[in-house]
Amino acid sequence: MVKVGILGLGRYLPSKKLTNSDLEKMVDTSDEWIRTRTGIKERRIAALHEKTSDLATKAALSALRDAKISAEKIDLIVVATISPDSNFPSMACKVQKAIRAHKAAAFDVSAACSGYLFALTTAKQYIQTGLAKRALVIAAERISGLIDWKNRDTCVLFGDGAGACVLGPVKSGGILADFLQAFGAQGDLMQVIAPEARSPFHPAKAAYTQLPYVQMKGQELFKVAVNSMADAVEKVLKKAKIKKTQVDWIVPHQANDRIISAVANKLGVPKKKIFINIDKYGNMSAASIAVALYEAKKSKKIKKGDKVVLVTFGAGLVSAANLIKW
Ligand code: UT7
Repeated sequence: MVKVGILGLGRYLPSKKLTNSDLEKMVDTSDEWIRTRTGIKERRIAALHEKTSDLATKAALSALRDAKISAEKIDLIVVATISPDSNFPSMACKVQKAIRAHKAAAFDVSAACSGYLFALTTAKQYIQTGLAKRALVIAAERISGLIDWKNRDTCVLFGDGAGACVLGPVKSGGILADFLQAFGAQGDLMQVIAPEARSPFHPAKAAYTQLPYVQMKGQELFKVAVNSMADAVEKVLKKAKIKKTQVDWIVPHQANDRIISAVANKLGVPKKKIFINIDKYGNMSAASIAVALYEAKKSKKIKKGDKVVLVTFGAGLVSAANLIKW
């Protein structure tokens, strides 16, 4: 079977920073609480005119430049997002139009913080079965639009951003193994409910204007996040018959630095082998791993021949892991 690997990486981050001290002026919180409980110092917030599809397009162009491949050579675009500009058209179709990838099929994947890895595995299958040759996989979130900026439980945690990669056939290495899992029964631990008040029959007319916000049960999620991410790493390594000691880097979803430490402890992996950038961006949902992978590669931490595990967990609930040989 054809080997599939990453031919280029890209990212786009809005320039506007929202620091912990900015948040101190908005809700009853403190820089100390946010740093010690989450590891976050600041996050990026999209400008008012910037849409999710704009972030996705800029990350896509950055990945195409890195791969030295023109948009006409792309025959599949998959965008992972839970914060699209609109229910339809899909973000993937908007990116296709913006970058003029005329030959590409395009669709979105909804798997919350696990979206990038679900999209990566999906695109890999298309290439392996011959339905596509080169794919753009993008994770883009403008999650600031789903946050109640008066609720300190959630507003300190998230940020906006986008990451992307070009996938295609490689001679050696590439994506060696994938593991995807869902725990739908626990879906109520983190959700954005479209309010039933949107019904024309709802008696409270004022509720028509209510916005759907992220709601989550933080402590319960914390435990499931640690267990499911550690389990996903074990499962993907078992599939590839690779030992933990052979892994050079783990690039995890960046939801909380304490979750990452707990996963490292559970796996018995030293934290210096784990790439962390949550301090700069907070939790960017699907975009977190995409941006972290870009930064791990561009800072030359990931080198040719390295074995890298991507691992994530998110609303759904869903978890996933991929093992990549660079
Ligand atoms: O992307 C994947 C999905 N998301 C996650 O996986 C998130 C997982 N959960 C977490 O990361 C953590 O549970 C949180 C960061 C959300 C919360 O940390 P925690 O250590 O579990 O805090 P807690 O919810 O137990 O709250 C501890 C205290 C409470 O006060 P009392 O009851 O002890 O007086 C909260 O009211 O901290 C309070 N608190 C805050 N204080 C200052 C909650 N949020 C804040 C805040 N600033 N922003």
